[in-house]
Amino acid sequence: MKTSPQPYKIKSVEPINLLSREQRYAALERVGFNPFLLKSEEVFIDLLTDSGTGAMSQNQWAAIMVGDESYAGSTSFYNLESAVADIFNYKYTIPVHQGRGAEKILFPVLIDKMRRERGGKEPVFISNYHFDTTAAHVELSGAKAINVVVEEAYALNEHFDWKGNFDLTKLIGYIELHGPENVAAIIITVTCNSMGGQPVSLDNIKAVHDIAKEFDIPVVMDAARFAENAYFIKQRDEHYVDHEISEIVKEMFQYADMFTMSAKKDAMVNIGGLCCFKGDEDLYREAQVHCIPMEGFATYGGMSGRDIEALTVGLYEAMDYNYLSTRISQVDRLAQKLANAGIPVQTPTGGHAVFIDARAFLPHLSVGEFPGHALANALYLEAGIRSAEIGSLLLGRDPVTGIQKSSPTELLRLAIPRRTYTNEHMDYVAENLIELKKKKSSIPGYRFTYEPLVLRHFLAQFEPVIKVS
Ligand code: F0G
Repeated sequence: MKTSPQPYKIKSVEPINLLSREQRYAALERVGFNPFLLKSEEVFIDLLTDSGTGAMSQNQWAAIMVGDESYAGSTSFYNLESAVADIFNYKYTIPVHQGRGAEKILFPVLIDKMRRERGGKEPVFISNYHFDTTAAHVELSGAKAINVVVEEAYALNEHFDWKGNFDLTKLIGYIELHGPENVAAIIITVTCNSMGGQPVSLDNIKAVHDIAKEFDIPVVMDAARFAENAYFIKQRDEHYVDHEISEIVKEMFQYADMFTMSAKKDAMVNIGGLCCFKGDEDLYREAQVHCIPMEGFATYGGMSGRDIEALTVGLYEAMDYNYLSTRISQVDRLAQKLANAGIPVQTPTGGHAVFIDARAFLPHLSVGEFPGHALANALYLEAGIRSAEIGSLLLGRDPVTGIQKSSPTELLRLAIPRRTYTNEHMDYVAENLIELKKKKSSIPGYRFTYEPLVLRHFLAQFEPVIKVS
């Protein structure tokens, strides 16, 4: 295959430092074997998240200089509003400090509208898969979060192009079970982060929209990785091979009524988010009212003018085909290196991360010993690489019974920041995982020494379970 280099060169560099093995062990032991608690200077390659960790372009940095810091009605806000109208064809824009800010101001408003206009009493939200904070905000606003992703998504090593798709039969089933008047909104998460950054097809987006309209339910797009989803549509749907990414994006968003966006992903800013409406002025006004006490005045919503300017540029850069192509190939290239060495990775590869099946990689560990977390620790100790478990540890306990919820998969996520690391960095990651494979039976599981009641994976502390044979 021909090499297709990244369509940019490096102008500014940030040193990273690899601690010695002894220093890495001491650091990990100090933080109770939870890589979340490491200092970033103790990390060599940071694959904890692709959120807010991308490299901004020279045009984004240049835009920062023209940020208008007026409290109200800044030029930067109007530039952003025009970009949203141009890219998504949405009339109303509210900036927020990040994705969860949008969830916080929007969901209560959707529930109020549902009660007022449709007479529902027991609100639910249905999604292909709610991201953690999305589910948390659904629950904080008194509603229930239901996920209806296709079954194919759970078959980690079986190929399916659209593992982010909704199971339409389940969607209709849940709408009928709860009553359409109780469905506050349907949330289409593109790409579907919790399922491995897997795309949702345009046919599926349209079908979800049609079902929603039949039942008079609003559709929200959770748009953090909108451009990566559009790229997959161009690659995998023969009807769209000749379409520009920007055309696909417009079409995707025509099938929703509003969107929330963490702009820290595809839009490549370090902080920022959006809550936008296609045309529902009443809902927009109500969300604005919520924005003011919680995020800030409606034309800045928790962002500085300079960050808004960088976001406006980032929204366009996200849709550059050459960039997207090298971005997605970099992630896939890492996955293929691992797969070729017999490391069980999710297939096909998603947009922003490589997911390793930690249960298959570490079959000697029980689910209760957190194989994904064990692998994350082993990878840090081996090579200073930070990654995150997506499995039982993240899922936590049932709040009522206190029993560990059962996770369908035990994964390790290697999330790749945008435009940040070179392919040599990725080769280093692959080589070290391959090295770990040779000594995998010596990798210990972990048990809690401190377990917080909620969102435990961020702050928990552990000790290795040493088995004496
Ligand atoms: N929706 C999706 C699909 C996300 O992936 C995230 C964040 C959010 C909403 C919340 O956005 O962080 O800006 O408040 N995902 C990050 C991750 C944190 O690591 O996957 P936020």
